[in-house]
Amino acid sequence: MLKVNDISVRYDLISVLDNVSFLVEEGQFVAIVGANSAGKTTILKTLSALVSAFQGTIEFFNERIDHLPPYEIAAKGISHVPEGRRIFDKLTIKENLLVGAHVRDDQQDVLETLEEMYALFPILKQRQTQKGETLSGGERQQLAIARGLMAKPRLLMLDEPSLGLSPILSNKVIHTCEEIRRKGTTILIVEQKVTEVLKLVDRGYVLQRGQIIMEGKGEELLESDLIRKAYLGL
Ligand SMILES: Nc1ncnc2c1ncn2[C@@H]1O[C@H](COP(=O)(O)OP(=O)(O)OP(=O)(O)O)[C@@H](O)[C@H]1O
Ligand SMILES: [Mg+2]
Repeated sequence: MLKVNDISVRYDLISVLDNVSFLVEEGQFVAIVGANSAGKTTILKTLSALVSAFQGTIEFFNERIDHLPPYEIAAKGISHVPEGRRIFDKLTIKENLLVGAHVRDDQQDVLETLEEMYALFPILKQRQTQKGETLSGGERQQLAIARGLMAKPRLLMLDEPSLGLSPILSNKVIHTCEEIRRKGTTILIVEQKVTEVLKLVDRGYVLQRGQIIMEGKGEELLESDLIRKAYLGL
């Protein structure tokens, strides 16, 4: 589905991504894990064309997308839930969700997706007429993910959805991703919560200072010496 081939990115003259390659197959749940400032957000921004790579190619369903503007990438079915659970504070929860559906060309089915989101995140249904600013951190993250799903994406990209949440809430968010995947949406997640996420994903990539240093099945990575030493302190 998604084939990222040798992309390199610099901010000014500083190299941030160095020959990064990875694959996401349709229906999979894939994670890129790495520490602070490894380049995780930059990968997702590059895929959404918010940052441009000076080298490499990105293919989505065998079609190059690396020269398209952000709105065309969204229209192809790639939905990006950015870092920091940004939502519209002054819009209601329902309005926030409807904004997420603006790229769709099947507007007649949008209310059906809205009901699906309310089933997946019951708190959003209860609070649908309240302003975004009234939500707690965990609820905002649920809204941000649901808004991304309102686009009915073929690929949902999540940037550290667990950041700043309590361990219980962050686990809940990561498990919700698993549920979304079971319902048929392909997911690419970038995370620092290495253990929680690698337990659930089909495939993981380890990013260190802008380079993919290891890849494999989630469970395999968790058992590897490198992950145990570098990220789990074992
Ligand atoms: N616009 C920018 N200009 C210059 N440097 C930047 C810019 N954006 C990010 N960087 C730098 O690029 C590196 C990678 O940043 P990035 O945000 O991709 O990391 P990350 O893995 O998402 O980190 P975190 O886990 O803290 O979110 C960092 O050193 C960061 O300071
Ligand atoms: Mg980041």
